[in-house]
Amino acid sequence: MNILLLGSGGREHALALGLARNNTLFIAPGNPGTKLVGTNIAVNPNDPVEVTKWATDNDIDLVVIGPEAPLVAGVADAVAAARIPVFGPSQAASMLEGSKAFAKDVMESAGVDTAASVACKTMSEVEAALARFEPPYVVKNDGLAAGKGVIVTRELDAARAHARACLEAPGGAILIEEFMDGPEVSLFCVTDGKTVVPLLPAQDFKRALDNDEGLNTGGMGAYCPLPWLPEGFADEVVAKVAQPVVDEMARRGTPFVGLLYCGLVVTRRGIRVIEFNARFGDPETQVVLSLLETDLADLLFAAATGTLADFAPLQWSEAAGVGVVVSAENYPATPVLGDRVEGIEEAETEPNTRVYIAGVSEGEACPVTSGGRVLMVSATGKTLAQARQRAYAGVAKISIRGSHHRTDIATRADQIRIPC
Ligand code: AMP
Ligand code: GLY
Repeated sequence: MNILLLGSGGREHALALGLARNNTLFIAPGNPGTKLVGTNIAVNPNDPVEVTKWATDNDIDLVVIGPEAPLVAGVADAVAAARIPVFGPSQAASMLEGSKAFAKDVMESAGVDTAASVACKTMSEVEAALARFEPPYVVKNDGLAAGKGVIVTRELDAARAHARACLEAPGGAILIEEFMDGPEVSLFCVTDGKTVVPLLPAQDFKRALDNDEGLNTGGMGAYCPLPWLPEGFADEVVAKVAQPVVDEMARRGTPFVGLLYCGLVVTRRGIRVIEFNARFGDPETQVVLSLLETDLADLLFAAATGTLADFAPLQWSEAAGVGVVVSAENYPATPVLGDRVEGIEEAETEPNTRVYIAGVSEGEACPVTSGGRVLMVSATGKTLAQARQRAYAGVAKISIRGSHHRTDIATRADQIRIPC
């Protein structure tokens, strides 16, 4: 097949490695990592017309959309209208990620458990909602201009201040939610709009600093599998969450085709949804796909063409995977860019270790940082402990002035308990 992949992050580097296994791959725009896997092309991934024209002119058999922005821009709709199979939901279906209020409405219709929440547009509604819930308070931006700021705080004043800041933005809207207590899990579900196929559950580390301190980030590391989950967890999530949501989206006439990312909390009262994303998560994808033995392109093509029901059960490596993100100085606030990135090849000399490129561009003499999350060193091993040791040995060989990383990715995986 000829495949066109959209995006330029570490997730796309991982997708590229999987998709190029038995196929010819083009990446728009890609990064210095994807360039070694396929052909980077200068096409704007967010322009539905440009992407569709390039895919048509170049006999593309499958378009795979990595990030959210092209989904929201309607790229999947345009590609599908040109009768090219596309892995990624329509603009309407990607609302499951784009609007938390919409996602709540779908969950309610589908009977899916999530946190109780109140949508607020004024400060008096905010006061009433904060009075209704116990601390910690969860205040989520859901405005039209939303960056998706969420704060979780025990301080009433901090909750109010975040609510006020979100509401002051044009089209400002927020959700105030019940706090859900328990470990978080990311479960990626591949779907053709009818059938749902789960990948392995993974855990992401969202906070910038060790011990889950510091600011929220895009994700500072991940590991997979999760030894603390009960047997049959993924099937339970499909039965109670993903399948009902996929069925509800189809019932509404906006079938969801692509990757339904279920962000979950395992509470003492069962599985609860925090959020959905309409795309693969970054950095969990790098780790999860490093364990997938089934051909990724075949799987995504089956989803894009409505034939997942006939797809053979997925094959997984018995190994464990751990990935550690190295980020630029001052990430996630205002990352310092333009620093030299050294040691990538040396890091990859560790056994079963790979460096996924994210915020890196080609400098004059050597690669330089061009994004907050610069790269991720990910390794597999017989156990999580071995994978972690390899990943951190790789990280030690990376040299970027001012960079930082967490030192506790997957260190407590054998101590996590579901509250009871
Ligand atoms: P979101 O943008 O909705 O994914 O939220 C970002 C992070 O905030 C999540 O990964 C959780 O760690 C935390 N969070 C969001 N909502 C809740 C909630 N209702 N209860 C507990 N933690 C939450
Ligand atoms: N790792 C979280 C995300 O991709 O949204």
